[in-house]
Amino acid sequence: MNIMNVDYSTKIPNNVNLSEDRQVLKALEGWHPGYMDWWSDMGPEGFQQSLVYLRTAYSVDPRGWAKFDYVKMPDYRWGILLAPQEENRVIPFGENFGKPAWQEVPGEHRATLRRLIVIQGDTEPASVEQQRHLGKTAPSLYDLRNLFQVNVEEGRHLWAMVYLLQKYFGRDGREEADELLRRRSGDADSPRMLGAFNEATPDWLSFFMFTYFTDRDGKMQLHSLAQSGFDPLSRTCRFMLTEEAHHMFVGETGISRVVQRTVEAMKAAGISDPSDIAKVRALGVVDLPTIQKKLNLHYSLSLDLFGSEVSTNAANAFNAGIKGRYHETQIKDDHRLQNDTYPVLKLVNGEIKRVDEPALTALNMRLRDDYTQDCVKGLLRWNKIISTAGYDFMLTLPNVAFHRQIGEFRDIHATPDGVLIDDTTWSKQKGEWLPSADDGDFIASLMTPVTELGQFAPWISPPKVGIDNKPGDFEYVKIET
Ligand SMILES: [Fe+2]
Ligand SMILES: [Fe+2]
Repeated sequence: MNIMNVDYSTKIPNNVNLSEDRQVLKALEGWHPGYMDWWSDMGPEGFQQSLVYLRTAYSVDPRGWAKFDYVKMPDYRWGILLAPQEENRVIPFGENFGKPAWQEVPGEHRATLRRLIVIQGDTEPASVEQQRHLGKTAPSLYDLRNLFQVNVEEGRHLWAMVYLLQKYFGRDGREEADELLRRRSGDADSPRMLGAFNEATPDWLSFFMFTYFTDRDGKMQLHSLAQSGFDPLSRTCRFMLTEEAHHMFVGETGISRVVQRTVEAMKAAGISDPSDIAKVRALGVVDLPTIQKKLNLHYSLSLDLFGSEVSTNAANAFNAGIKGRYHETQIKDDHRLQNDTYPVLKLVNGEIKRVDEPALTALNMRLRDDYTQDCVKGLLRWNKIISTAGYDFMLTLPNVAFHRQIGEFRDIHATPDGVLIDDTTWSKQKGEWLPSADDGDFIASLMTPVTELGQFAPWISPPKVGIDNKPGDFEYVKIET
């Protein structure tokens, strides 16, 4: 078969020749009903009979891989899609640098690989669970469609990881695949594996922050795994990244549109001080200081996803050739890092200091730094909107020591500027930096659904262009069918 095109004749669309891989096909078909149960219990609430204008991958050719059409979400064709195999690909880093990439799981690295695949897999359904209530309060049909697009694709990403588990990890792979459907975001007894994926996504501003900051952690992790010497993992992640780009687009443009609407409303009302929260809120838009608080929350939660700054697990995964660096093959060094160092922010005698650590154990820190750089781009765009409107206000990323649960700074408190403070000061002031219950109530009060064609809730601007170049009044979701 042509690897570029996806076979839709089997129950599970794929470009991995499943029709001739009976055992894996059987395992996946066995898993399918449990997945559909999970989707109906934990997927988007309502709208399951609505026709949604969704893209579906029909190819893995970067020049054209998706088709748009109306689909009922439960009929979405969740498939297994791997980027084409690169001929003679070699392991691009670590102790096995330059050796042929593995097509099967190397026995000595089986446990490490399985753990990384399970952790990645766990985040995919988690975000769907976190976002399941948002359909009820969507600010437009355009946004509703984007939410559902992200949701079905996160579902597909779960399939991607489950395929690897079932094909390459035998019985324990199948058990892990079942566990992925059993854990639930925020559940007291059986939570998802990572902190940020157990937090609530109560409103659309949170959704945009989540897709901007937390999906971007996903991007960084997928990039590192796309470098993997285990070729099927690399190929899976490469294709996932194609879809992931849209998720971050939803976040970036979503926040842009909220900021845009806020500054327009302030201007029209002649408000010159963006910090005059009461006056701005009276206009029915989200004030900039509250947007900053939401940003502080989601950025700091997402930083925790990178794990401890200094980590022997990260070093081992790199040495083994399993998880590389962001853009590994474009980095000009020996790709082994045995004698290199990397500066790590640490707490030294009560002060935040840069300390050189062996580059191998500092890989989480390095990936997190790459992530921060990537995050900055959105802030530049949002700040441009604010300054163009003539306001002197800047959204900023908080210091990495701010509001952390994992790593060097988990036991201390710091302000967004990175000044260390004691517990009492933190308790007294944290409401200035993180969304308070009042902030949450205010945002919730804005979340009234808008479902008329081409209409948008008054707290958010329309997008500059439609999805698939559709006009502004396009019916992205046919709610009643
Ligand atoms: Fe994903
Ligand atoms: Fe995503």
